[in-house]
Amino acid sequence: MHPSRPYTVAVLGATGAVGREMLKVLDEHRFPVGELVPLASERSVGEEVLLGNRPFRCKLAEPDAFEGVDIVLASAGGSVSRKLLPEAVKRGAVCIDNSSAFRMDVDVPLVVPEVNPEAVAVHKGIIANPNCSTIQMVVALKPLHDEAQIKRVVVSTYQSVSGAGKKGMDELSKQTVALLNFRPYDVEVHSARIAFNCVPHIGPFIEDDYTQEELKLVYETRKIFGEPEMRVNPTAVRVPVFAGHSESINIEFEKPITPGRARELLGEFPGVVVVDKPHEKQYPMAIDAAERDEVFVGRIRKDRSVDHGLSLWCVADNLRKGAATNAVQIAKLLDAWWHAAQA
Ligand code: A2P
Repeated sequence: MHPSRPYTVAVLGATGAVGREMLKVLDEHRFPVGELVPLASERSVGEEVLLGNRPFRCKLAEPDAFEGVDIVLASAGGSVSRKLLPEAVKRGAVCIDNSSAFRMDVDVPLVVPEVNPEAVAVHKGIIANPNCSTIQMVVALKPLHDEAQIKRVVVSTYQSVSGAGKKGMDELSKQTVALLNFRPYDVEVHSARIAFNCVPHIGPFIEDDYTQEELKLVYETRKIFGEPEMRVNPTAVRVPVFAGHSESINIEFEKPITPGRARELLGEFPGVVVVDKPHEKQYPMAIDAAERDEVFVGRIRKDRSVDHGLSLWCVADNLRKGAATNAVQIAKLLDAWWHAAQA
């Protein structure tokens, strides 16, 4: 028996940067929420959050909080997900997890609705939302891969501080103010000073001197495309931007594909906006992608260093398509599937 509309939805991490965005996107997409259960740590119990204009009070994230919940949207970090989501599943909920805790588990689908919506059907209670940088990249790659078969991808990311949560944004603000006032500053969240700087180090170094953030782009992309051998070479960089991740992507294909054909395919692809009139200064930029759900692609050009290659620039709001929007889109797939089963 599938749950029916309207759903009881829990947002785990409802007071965080992504959790707050999840509440906004649920409302904007008019997802059929009957009861909302906002969950956070003991620090936030009783704090009010809004779903549209409906106020709800945060409860403590503990196993029994998931009693009667149909769908959990989780973004409170890997260790909280690991501890609590199996408890939610035991109580009958389906969890869409934004943390990296379960992404590579064979039993857990890793879903970007524009790319592999069919994967939702095989879940066992947990569905993973990919990493923000992976989501926007695979959306941009999908129509090109279908047309010309990707051989190798080289990607450099320019990732905003909101990827490190509210504390990541606060650190950029505080350092900027301190530096402009010739005062000392602290470095706690980012790997080095982020104000007026670019830091090529996000997450721990784990394999061959690649960071965890970089390897997510390799392994998650392979899993989403079902291409275990796809060659991806990433460099992940934190930049002093509050919202929106940008990526320089260089793609080598098996078959020929022109920039014009790529523009056409991307222009028709759901969730993509092509902004590509560079001579009129029209290209995707983080400031334009903020608060938007789409992936913006531009600077599409031939890579003349290989036989069949393209280079492009891709931007998305990491809190929206890179996290909250993708999670709500997965919830909408579940809703459509459950609703069809009941019809
Ligand atoms: P709280 O605000 O009570 O600390 P961000 O990524 O922006 O830092 O947000 C993290 C989110 O995860 C917040 O909602 C935070 O709640 C929540 N969170 C952090 N630790 C826990 C925990 N141990 N149990 C439940 N929620 C947690």
